[in-house]
Amino acid sequence: MDQNYISYGKVAKFLHWTMAILLLLNYFLGLTLEKSSLYNFHKQTGLTILLLAIIRIIWRIIDQYPAPIKSLSMMERSGAKLRHLSLYLFMLSVPLSGILMVNAHGYELSFWGVYTLPTFIEMQSESGGHVFAEIHEILANSMMAIIGIHLLAALKHHLVDKNEVLLRMIPFSRRGK
Ligand code: HEM
Ligand code: HEM
Repeated sequence: MDQNYISYGKVAKFLHWTMAILLLLNYFLGLTLEKSSLYNFHKQTGLTILLLAIIRIIWRIIDQYPAPIKSLSMMERSGAKLRHLSLYLFMLSVPLSGILMVNAHGYELSFWGVYTLPTFIEMQSESGGHVFAEIHEILANSMMAIIGIHLLAALKHHLVDKNEVLLRMIPFSRRGK
């Protein structure tokens, strides 16, 4: 293992782990909504995730992220790139489909009581709401499948390949050489 690895920055790590916790929490909250009735909490957490995703994507563009590790094969690099890209798309599309579902059902959506979101769908219909609910469920489940693969890949790098991929994302690890 290269002892002189360059790790992700503090902000990138903070956003990665905060969002990981919120996403997993909100997914399991979503699955138990009928029993828990925590609909509003699920919506608010989902909107917070959307806001953090926008900040994260802007930060991804303006900050210097570490280059891929040299020991990785081309296949591993492209696989990781594709998975990361799809995760960024899910971070946006899962909450957006939730917003459209609520819009289609004709409910107002406020962000923690501070800001009322504009309505993107003027024509309310039960069937429209159900279509978006279906899309929301499919997207959330697909996202969890990719997160599962992402987690297994991180563990394989650490335990089998014994490289620095996971260490670069661990909080408080070094930033540079
Ligand atoms: C990334 C964040 C989110 C995740 C991971 C997520 C995940 C889920 C999951 C797994 C379900 C259960 C689907 C099912 O089995 O029927 C669900 C349901 C639901 N979600 Fe989300 N959600 C997120 C964000 C949002 C947002 C932002 C809203 C609205 C503003 C929202 C509104 C809803 C509603 C209303 C339901 C109930 C659907 C129904 O009545 O069947 N979600 N969500
Ligand atoms: C469950 C435990 C998780 C572990 C152990 C983990 C581990 C890692 C590691 C080691 C990296 C760096 C990969 C590299 O340098 O190539 C990474 C990056 C990334 N992770 Fe996770 N992760 C987890 C959960 C999540 C979740 C829930 C998401 C949901 C969105 C996520 C999204 C991402 C993204 C988008 C990147 C790429 C960052 C970039 O733009 O370079 N991770 N993760």
